[in-house]
This record gives sequence, C-alpha cells and structure tokens, in this order.
Amino acid sequence: MQAGNVLILGQGAREHALAQALAESRWVRELWAAPGNPGLTQVARLSPAATIEAWVDLAESVGGLTVVGPEAPLAAGLADRLRARGLPVVGPGAEVARLESSKIYAKSVMAEMNIPTARAIAVDSVDALASQVRREWPLPVVIKEDGLAQGKGVTIVRSEDDWAAFLLHEATAKSSSRWIVEEYLEGREVSIEVLTNGRDYVWLPAAVDHKRLTAAPGSPNTGGMGAYSPVPWLTEDDRRRIDAKVLGPLIAYLQEHRIDYRGVLYVGCMMTEDGPYVLEFNVRLGDPEAAVVLARINDDLYPWLAELAEGRLLATTLPVSKQAAVAVVVASEGYPSEPRVGRAIRMGRTIARARVLHAGTKLVNGSLVSGGGRVLTVVGLGPDLAAARTTAYAAVDEIALEGAVVRRDIGAEFDSVG
Ligand code: AMP
Ligand code: GLY
Repeated sequence: MQAGNVLILGQGAREHALAQALAESRWVRELWAAPGNPGLTQVARLSPAATIEAWVDLAESVGGLTVVGPEAPLAAGLADRLRARGLPVVGPGAEVARLESSKIYAKSVMAEMNIPTARAIAVDSVDALASQVRREWPLPVVIKEDGLAQGKGVTIVRSEDDWAAFLLHEATAKSSSRWIVEEYLEGREVSIEVLTNGRDYVWLPAAVDHKRLTAAPGSPNTGGMGAYSPVPWLTEDDRRRIDAKVLGPLIAYLQEHRIDYRGVLYVGCMMTEDGPYVLEFNVRLGDPEAAVVLARINDDLYPWLAELAEGRLLATTLPVSKQAAVAVVVASEGYPSEPRVGRAIRMGRTIARARVLHAGTKLVNGSLVSGGGRVLTVVGLGPDLAAARTTAYAAVDEIALEGAVVRRDIGAEFDSVG
C-alpha cells in the first residue's frame, strides 16, 4: 500500500464521518473535501467546488482517491468521468446508479433476479391514482415519487382520508409526474451495506435508521433522524437469507450484465415473516447510517477504499468493533418541509465524550449557525447500545439550537438490556 491523497465529495454528516475515519489513517497524506461543511475543516482542507465539472478538475489536482458521498453526482456520471481520466474513485457509474435514482429500474432488476420486493406498478397521472389505483389497491398502500427523493417522496396511505389529502396535495404541488404504487410491507427495517467490486462483497456493520420525523405511524418521512448499530434483533439466519435472496442475486445481475461496480451498495430491507424484502437500493453509504457504521469499523479505512477503487476487495471480512454506536440527528425547526435556518448553534461541555458530525451548518462572521434541515449528527459509543445512547443524548442535551427537532427514542428499546 502506498500513501496517497483523498478527496471526499459531499457536505453532510456522512462525509464528515468519512473524513474522520480517513483522517485517522496512516496512509492518507492530504485529506480534501468539497464543498464540505464547517465540521469538515477540523480534519480536511476544503474546496468550494460544487459542480460535476469543478469536481473533476479538483480530483485531478488533488491527484489521489476520490470518495463520492451522495447519490446525485453518481447518477450524473461523475464516477464515469473520473475513471475515464484514469482517476481512482469509490462510487459506481451512472448506468448502475439507477438502482437508486430510478425505482422503476430497481424493480425491473429485482423482477429479473427474483429478489423479494413489494408488488408494484408505475402510474403516470394523478387521474389514474385517483380512479383506478384508489379503487383497486387495498389499504394501506405506499406511493413513491419516481426519482431521487432521499426517502422524502414516500407516502403511506392508510385511510380514505389519507387518499383525499394525498390527491389534493399532488394535484396542487405537482411534485412528481410519475409514481410507484406498492403494497405495504409489515416488518422491521434494517440497512444492509456492503463494499462490492461487482464480483464479491464484504458486509459493513448492519444498522437501523429511523426515517420518520417522530415515532408516530403517520409521521412524515425524512432523510433519517437517527441510527444504531449493531442490530441485536438481526439473526444469523436473517443474514444468511439476505445473502441468499438479495445480495447473491444482485451480484449475479451485475456479473451477467458486465457492470463494473466499485463502491458501497446499500439495501433497505424489510424483515417480514417471509424473510427479507427489498424496500430500496442505494449506491452509497446511508446517512445517518454512516455515522454508526464507520464508527464501528475496526480497521484503517483507506486501504479498503483504495483497493475498492481498483476493483479489488482487501479481505473477505471486515474487522468490526464490539462497541455499539447510536447516532441522533439534531434537525431544524420545521424539518423536513420548511426548515428554519440561520439560527445560532451553541455546544456545552459533555460534547467531548460524543462525536458531533456537521451537516447543515454554516459559519457566519465566525459563529456557527444552522444552514439546512439536518444540522448535526451526534454519535455516542459504548460497550452496549444503552451506554452508547446515554452518551449520545447527554451530548445532544448540551446543544442549544432554538426550535431543534430531535427524536428521543433512537435505540430506546435497548435501555433495559445490558
Ligand atoms: P424508500 O425511499 O422506498 O426506501 O421509502 C422510504 C421509507 O418508506 C422506507 O424506509 C420505509 O420506512 C417506508 N416504506 C417504503 N416502502 C414501503 C412498503 N412497501 N411498505 C412499508 N413501508 C414502506
Ligand atoms: N438513511 C437512508 C439513506 O441514506 O437513504
């Protein structure tokens, strides 16, 4: 292994977590991030570059490994552009990035490979939703906007009142012109992430995200309000079934179609009474999952990513720490629909025991203020989830942000354990 420079693209807590992990590497010479956020300045040099063109130029001048955090640049072909210039990059090309950006493509892949997923149809008009779908599909039913929505374009219709509200909203907001209608799956959700070169794969620690704004069933979907890892309720048998029914067939698809995949593959799995069902594929690390997943990797991350960019896996298993991790998102008042930004952020003393990852923060005249929906992700570590949770919330309670929205129940079910 040779030491090298690394460029991290993106500006959220996921990128801050990647940067923290890579800053600890003995192999990383210069660490760069673009466009980054104020938290990233603690560990990386920042460039304001924020377009595909500017990122390609920056990657060339940094002259090392590029790690693409979010999905949009991957869907836009950034990884293809970098590879065409001979630059190593972690992240798949545009063709296969459609696994995330096009739910219709993802469904067609799953149908071809017999990967269990909810029965679904594509619908092109509000009229068809209002007449045919409303009449024929039993409740509850799930309606998703096609395209990148970061988990926000999903509505679960549980009643006739929900139908009326949804149709009214779509008729006026015109937020989408194409929807996927899906049967509702009952079960527990888990985020499975692997490093893959398209032929083999290595599991990252499994994690659980909390996608809804609050624990209430009808609460709106968000980008994710908190996460924990490990996942004590995920059994060895569950893992074998995920390998056999989901990951194995998906890798077979990549091979059959000669798709060169070098990056993270994320499977949002619903564990039902009939085993795993795929809710979604993502072609990058989850956020907030990355905060807990990367914290539990007990190895230098750089060699894994550098090898992956060359199409190789460093080893057959990844060393995972026995420590548990709990991440709690501090979001702006009004998130996810209308986050209020520009408010002062102050942090107290016990913060030192947790890791605070920045997402939507800004420096204005040297003071830290909120600048987005999800503002900070606070990560607690400990010998078990209960301890990790205590550490995370102690730090959250020392953060002052007017109107902050925080879920208090991340990992709460493990409080009585250990
Ligand atoms: P997606 O962006 O497709 O992952 O959907 C976002 C969230 O909506 C998921 O993480 C689930 O919590 C929920 N969801 C999506 N599809 C279904 C389904 N078919 N049944 C139950 N819940 C779902
Ligand atoms: N936390 C879910 C996602 O990153 O898509």
